[in-house]
Amino acid sequence: MRARHAVVATNAPINDRYAIHSKQAPYRTYAMAFSVPKKALPDGLYWDTLEAYHYVRLQPGTGQSDILIVGGADHKTGEADDADARFLALEAWMRNLLPALGKELHRWSGQILDTIDYAGFIGLNPGSKRTFVSTGDSGQGITHGAVAGILISDLILKGESPWMDVYDPSRKPIKAAGAFLSENLSVPKNFAEYVAPGERSSWDELKPGEGAIVRKGLSKIAAYRDDTGNLYLRSAACPHLGCHVHWNSFERCWDCPCHGSQFAPDGTALNGPAFSPLAEYKP
Ligand code: FES
Repeated sequence: MRARHAVVATNAPINDRYAIHSKQAPYRTYAMAFSVPKKALPDGLYWDTLEAYHYVRLQPGTGQSDILIVGGADHKTGEADDADARFLALEAWMRNLLPALGKELHRWSGQILDTIDYAGFIGLNPGSKRTFVSTGDSGQGITHGAVAGILISDLILKGESPWMDVYDPSRKPIKAAGAFLSENLSVPKNFAEYVAPGERSSWDELKPGEGAIVRKGLSKIAAYRDDTGNLYLRSAACPHLGCHVHWNSFERCWDCPCHGSQFAPDGTALNGPAFSPLAEYKP
């Protein structure tokens, strides 16, 4: 395919190995939906500034009930695997504030990419003349998606936009430099895992549905046993830049803590920046 301009809107850009990914960090967030009596809470979008923070929104329901969505309890991707405890904490926080909260309907988790100043990276890809990116939604994906549609089309058609500096993917805000440095400590920390022991001494210990990292000589293997007993062995080295993936037992996937790539239990790439699978390991 040939085009004068390209827009890479793949959540985490797959066209860029370093420039963007060293300025944003992946976080896993948790969310639950509950039934709630209509008018129990004024309609609105709520969030707090606690560490870890919470967000709440209402979805119109049928009959006498609405659906309340509460989320938060985030952690840096791959640095925790305790979803049940986080859901318990979310529910307790919400019930304490809203005793009328009804029964749980759904629970899920997702990944967000936080930038160093929480504004998205929307505009010309660093170093490019005709390739544009939209990424780093920082939990504001619907807003940033609308901004990207307007801003990038203006850049292509008119060569400028009133918001181009605010969202410029090449910006380096000085005020956020401390946060930028501390977020990126996860990369050297992850590379230290090359010499650390595995989580299990052998994949024979895995029960159906379990995944874990197993050391084999100098290599680390991402091992998963499916519900029918089939074993999947893949290299634990992420094909993006080589960090080690971590098992996510709630979503049953391999998460890369460095820049947020995700892989299915069989190693298939699910989310960028990596777009090739975890390499197969043959014992
Ligand atoms: Fe960059 Fe895995 S996502 S090393």
